[in-house]
Amino acid sequence: MQNDIPALEITPERLYLSRRQFMRGAGALAASALLTACGVPTPTPAPTAPPAPTAPPAPASRAAPPTQVASGADELGDKWTPFDVVTNYNNYYEFSLDKEPVAQAARNFKTTPWTVHVGGLVNKPRAFTLDELLQFPHTERIYRLRCVEAWSMVVPWNGFPLAQLLAQVEPLAQAKYVRFETLLDPAQMPGQRDKYFKWPYVEGLRLDEAMHDLTILATGLYGKPLPPQDGAPLRLVVPWKYGFKYVKSIVKIDLVEDAPVSFWMTSSPTEYGFYANVNPEVSHPRWSQATERRIGETSRRKTLPFNGYAEQVAALYQGMDLRKFF
Ligand code: MTE
Repeated sequence: MQNDIPALEITPERLYLSRRQFMRGAGALAASALLTACGVPTPTPAPTAPPAPTAPPAPASRAAPPTQVASGADELGDKWTPFDVVTNYNNYYEFSLDKEPVAQAARNFKTTPWTVHVGGLVNKPRAFTLDELLQFPHTERIYRLRCVEAWSMVVPWNGFPLAQLLAQVEPLAQAKYVRFETLLDPAQMPGQRDKYFKWPYVEGLRLDEAMHDLTILATGLYGKPLPPQDGAPLRLVVPWKYGFKYVKSIVKIDLVEDAPVSFWMTSSPTEYGFYANVNPEVSHPRWSQATERRIGETSRRKTLPFNGYAEQVAALYQGMDLRKFF
């Protein structure tokens, strides 16, 4: 049976072989699920007419009942990826190395009470409860999500600009970067028992990237509270970067002087870098980034520089050789 195990996608090459070891460590997962290929949901036909305008902003709240949400499109006219796909095709290594089992494996993940500590090089370090985070004025943002594995989705997120949270703690002049950390709780997150990876999941942004208006902290999607598999109760969304930057289940945000070393930079330094801006011209060592597969479509489409947000963010990287900053 060992040869039936498919190669993982984002996982570094040298870790393919440790997969069986992970399977033993994460003993709670069913063998059948572990042998499932990293499949793609059945394609649905592309829309024939331009989709309806997007639904009005819907604040996410834990108490909010699921709302009836109209389907919409992004500013390029591309349809939202269906809710069922967004919530059943997930990368979340704390729960599973495969995508489809994540929703089931994370279903009992405890997201209340929840506190996010924001500190480091700031004037006013502070712990925010989830209720306090939900009080930030929320907006709906329709963003493309582009994974380095060369698939993509369109997701209607609910959240608020990270800049608003950072303003409350008053970053000091020495603060140049922001470091994010996921919850460390191997009792709840079986993947964290795998000693091959250095847990918890860590990500980082340059301070100006973090302060950019497109950068949000999401607490919901499709007008509903974020499901556990999508990073509840709080995750980062940076639409011009590859999806692995979108750290889930955040418990700690620190303002720091040096660029943080991310989970993937530690796991596979030759394959992952800090910036990770979507760039069709720079291939990952194992995947060309020139085209992508929009989940639900049969043919591939061209990848857009900065995932289609170049107009808003390219200026952040003026003078940098983008080929060096994968
Ligand atoms: N955050 C944590 N804590 N653990 C993870 O494994 N996977 C990342 C990112 N955030 C990951 C994570 C990757 S590789 C991607 S592509 C996106 O989450 C996927 O987000 P989605 O499952 O909501 O589509």
